[in-house]
Amino acid sequence: MSLTTQAGVNLASIERNCTRLLGELREGGQLCAVVKADGYGHGMVWCAQAALAGGATWLAVSGMSEARELATDEEVGSLKAPLLVMGPIPPSDLEEAIVQGFDIVVWSERYMSAIAQLAAEMDMLVRVHVKLDSGMGRFGTRDAEEATRIATAAAAAPNVQLVGLMTHFATADELEDDFFEEQLQRFELWASPLKQAHPEVLVHAANSAATLRDPRTHFDMVRCGIAIYGMDPFGRDPRERDLEPAMEVASHVAAVKLCHAGESAGYGRRFTATHDTYLGVVPIGYGDGWRRGLSNNADVLIGGVRRPLVGTVSMDSITVDLGPGPDAERLAGETAVLIGDQGAERITAEEVARRLDTISYEVACGLTRRLERRYCQDGLRCRDE
Ligand SMILES: Cc1ncc(COP(=O)(O)O)c(C=O)c1O
Repeated sequence: MSLTTQAGVNLASIERNCTRLLGELREGGQLCAVVKADGYGHGMVWCAQAALAGGATWLAVSGMSEARELATDEEVGSLKAPLLVMGPIPPSDLEEAIVQGFDIVVWSERYMSAIAQLAAEMDMLVRVHVKLDSGMGRFGTRDAEEATRIATAAAAAPNVQLVGLMTHFATADELEDDFFEEQLQRFELWASPLKQAHPEVLVHAANSAATLRDPRTHFDMVRCGIAIYGMDPFGRDPRERDLEPAMEVASHVAAVKLCHAGESAGYGRRFTATHDTYLGVVPIGYGDGWRRGLSNNADVLIGGVRRPLVGTVSMDSITVDLGPGPDAERLAGETAVLIGDQGAERITAEEVARRLDTISYEVACGLTRRLERRYCQDGLRCRDE
């Protein structure tokens, strides 16, 4: 029993998920752990360490603020894993990115020549990955010839190291979709001759879904996010693919009260009791990221039993129907699990996502800073959390 509201993160699960993903790859295949968005809400720095302990050899983030935070962390910094900044880096940050040795993604000739010139002026080496937009329609050039010209220029420039050739799939998580195949072919057609010309470059394309779905996408490295945290990229039960959810969201029953038939609970009176029942009040709400869309639309595990969240989710609390039984009063102070296991019952982030008509990514990323993160290794509390 714990009288806090928290997201517990088991770093050992992240380690095992990484090891499990590496098991999918051919020998020598590398895993880049995607730890952007504060490690998908799990805590970027802790997760980066856990992923590297589990065998990942690269880290990826979205932008410079995240890269900076990782690079200045003593422990992560000391592990010396290459750090890929996948999103755009503004010109004002380029010098810092080069000094820090971050891996930069390039998709225009103009940007490439600006980087090469800056690196030459600084008398330093800049590490670049060229991105082909094979169909995602976001960053990257759609023009394969331009992408080749960028890669060739990078390889020829004295202060530039061509490190990678990359793309990103739009529909890897949609198993019945043909577009995935189309993207893969487009990417292979572009990357193969370049890889032949520059055998040392890393070819990388796969996110978690592609990694688990099709070994042809693995190339030299995969970039996995959601699966390292133990969530299923296809929105299914993570156990089906041997993934261990690393995060548990739990609170406690802070008050129990009898709600007579006809009485209501919460804003807008969206729950009115049809019979006498006990309500448990649990101190977690949309201020913690437990979304209002879960009003009358979620279960909570209390005393090893699934109980319905009733009424409107408030900023700081929810109400749960504990039932009419006299033993309901004894549930005061009991742990309330919102995501995780209790007894034989389990609520996954995928279940919560389905109820909200979204994806587990958004559920995890949406947990706010107010929700305290607690780190452990298989139940052993981590020392300086
Ligand atoms: C470019 C890129 N690569 C890899 C990933 C990791 O994707 P996933 O979390 O589905 O494994 C992301 C995440 O959105 C991404 O933007």
